[in-house]
Amino acid sequence: MRSFTPLLTVLLLLFFGGCVRENEQEDPIEKKIDALLDEMTLEEKVGQMTQIQLGIFYKDDMLDHQMLKEYVVDYGIGSILNAPNFHGMAQAVTVDEWNKLITQIQRYAMETRLKIPVLYGIDAIHGATYVRGATLFPHNIALAAARNRSLVKRCARATAHEVRATGIRWNFDPVLGVGKQPLWPRFEETFGEATYLVNQLGKKAVQGYEAEGLDRPGSVAACAKHYVGYSVPVSGKDRTPAVIPEHTLREVFLPPFRVAVKNGASTVMINSASINGIPVHADKRLITDILKGELGFQGLVVSDWEDIINLWKQHHVAHDNKEAVMMAVNAGIDMSMVPSDLSFYNDLIALVKEGKVKMSRIDDAVRRILRVKYRLRLFEDPFPEPEAVASFGRRVYQNVALEAARECMTLLKNDTLKGRPLLPLSLQSRVLLAGPAVNSRSALHGSWSYTWQGQVDSLYPKRVLTIRQAMEKMLGRDHVITVAPSRFATITPMMIREMKQKAAAADVIVLCLGEDSYAESVGNIDDLTLPYDQRMLAEAAANTGKPVVLVLTEGRPRIISDIVPLSDAILMAYRPGNRGAEAIAETLLGKNVPSGRLPFSYPRYTGNLIPYDAVVREEKYYDPQWPFGYGLSYTTFRFSDFSLSRDTVTVNDTLEVQVTVTNTGKREAKVAVDLFVKDYTASITPPMKRLRRFKKVQLKPGQTITMTFNLKKMDFSFVGNDGNRHWEPGRMAVIVEGMQKEFYLKTD
Ligand code: BGC
Repeated sequence: MRSFTPLLTVLLLLFFGGCVRENEQEDPIEKKIDALLDEMTLEEKVGQMTQIQLGIFYKDDMLDHQMLKEYVVDYGIGSILNAPNFHGMAQAVTVDEWNKLITQIQRYAMETRLKIPVLYGIDAIHGATYVRGATLFPHNIALAAARNRSLVKRCARATAHEVRATGIRWNFDPVLGVGKQPLWPRFEETFGEATYLVNQLGKKAVQGYEAEGLDRPGSVAACAKHYVGYSVPVSGKDRTPAVIPEHTLREVFLPPFRVAVKNGASTVMINSASINGIPVHADKRLITDILKGELGFQGLVVSDWEDIINLWKQHHVAHDNKEAVMMAVNAGIDMSMVPSDLSFYNDLIALVKEGKVKMSRIDDAVRRILRVKYRLRLFEDPFPEPEAVASFGRRVYQNVALEAARECMTLLKNDTLKGRPLLPLSLQSRVLLAGPAVNSRSALHGSWSYTWQGQVDSLYPKRVLTIRQAMEKMLGRDHVITVAPSRFATITPMMIREMKQKAAAADVIVLCLGEDSYAESVGNIDDLTLPYDQRMLAEAAANTGKPVVLVLTEGRPRIISDIVPLSDAILMAYRPGNRGAEAIAETLLGKNVPSGRLPFSYPRYTGNLIPYDAVVREEKYYDPQWPFGYGLSYTTFRFSDFSLSRDTVTVNDTLEVQVTVTNTGKREAKVAVDLFVKDYTASITPPMKRLRRFKKVQLKPGQTITMTFNLKKMDFSFVGNDGNRHWEPGRMAVIVEGMQKEFYLKTD
């Protein structure tokens, strides 16, 4: 048995940590920070650690300049977040309005003694959420289906441009939770259930946001969130407890953060919930020892919304706010998203004076905050940069949004009727469109879309088509019959009757079902099953005798096992964003060949949410509607010549895996290939398989390509109960497209 001991890790860290510190001192930015820290009073330092939401400065839809000035100038708050508030709701405003606001805030900041600029942060989760006219891309769950690394990077780059255009330089994204709980209302924000997928795509998102360098007008500071284990609440309800054994934490949930830190993520946001009884906001081991120590994170750690207050109000681990502030800051939180008052500011100043929080901890926190501000070039120029402003709304972002929406389309069923597959439909088809998503933009976009909940239709740009408009554009109005509410709403018995009547005039019924948008706890549900009214509509559609196509726009896999047999074809569209309706229409009508693959196991039963990497003992119960990686095409592929370069591998060997793919159908198409490694026996009961690689290629009809994958040391390892990585000798296998080849791992 081999293992990488914690002692060795600590020694390496001490060694390299020492080097980093030396380099830090030579770094001109660190010198400037030293000088600034020397000048700053305790109040100024704590001000930097205080983040306030913009909403509190709005009274009757008007910005209270006096109050804003007081917070920025008198209290010296270091950061502001969220969007202007109208009718009590944060919502998108124009780039111009943002520019004015940011300019005003930074002017106030320039009135402070030390002229430290404000770091403004925003949730541009799948595009610049709070900006009118911004491009919104598919949510992560959809991008994960596309299995295309470069697409994720291009979406993030475009987002960075559109965010920076507003004058904001900090984006609270990417979400790096591994989506293991399909009930969870933030499932759509994740890259799905496989750690490797999250690692790879999370890395591309961080690179997209930051790669050009934070000083460039096309970049924003990324925020890897929510560290760690937020995505697996036992109850499925948002912000409720997780129970995560150490080996699972390190094998499944920690790696995406390790990768993000390694790729330069500048900031990290903490998980609001608790793990094994300890709220993460109070967990020194997770924040200071692991994130800042073991992972070597040098950036700033921000709390989530009100989550220091929640340590006493919700989690009941502190008696009052002061104790909560002490716990959180001593655990390693550098900035508090308070976000609506000065309780953190006042209590932290008192705690330092009483010696309950050390000045060295405050200095470390402020250093991390100032570091991000310096790197973002805020000290040189805190105002909106003309070059950045000019790059808002470029056509190319819309093109990327369309490409991304096309590639995420996942075909789950396509029965053959009258000798040919139902999809794609012919351009001569007369289509009856029915269901709550037909006229809904919010269902195409989900959370964080021009508002937090994404439900204000008037804020969607006119160019964003509904499924109905997109189908009419491609088929002509006279070929589209619609029976649908004007926005996402319950299907009434009257509508069902109307559909039955109109079906006679149609060749096919396209049902647009799923979920309206929701964000966070607003999206909590008690039943994963698709609501009854929608299933009744599907049953009625099937009873007409016409072919039925199901199009799903949903953020999580709502159970549809009773209507799957009633549907002849099923297309999963997730939350495809601004160009989603066009991508759906193009896919239904054959202009786009679907190439998405499920980034999660689509459950069949509410009582069976077993993931793809369940342990062997559960294998017989792994009975999803569709397994992880499932997805059909309009062409066919043959996989052959599957080979491994060796049958015995030592830990330091590279195992080369090859597989040949041929497009045996008639359409040019992309195909994504998932590669898994299976461990037969281990000292911790092993999962059925672990995703270790994926690759996507495009093939013309008849074209053949040989794909090569190089498996290395990490791919043969697992994390043991002691939290260390282990390599144990024994039989293993590589699995590609249902083919399996064994090899033997030798460890001596
Ligand atoms: C969410 C975070 C978000 C923050 C700021 C919180 O409710 O959990 O993901 O970044 O609000 O809007």
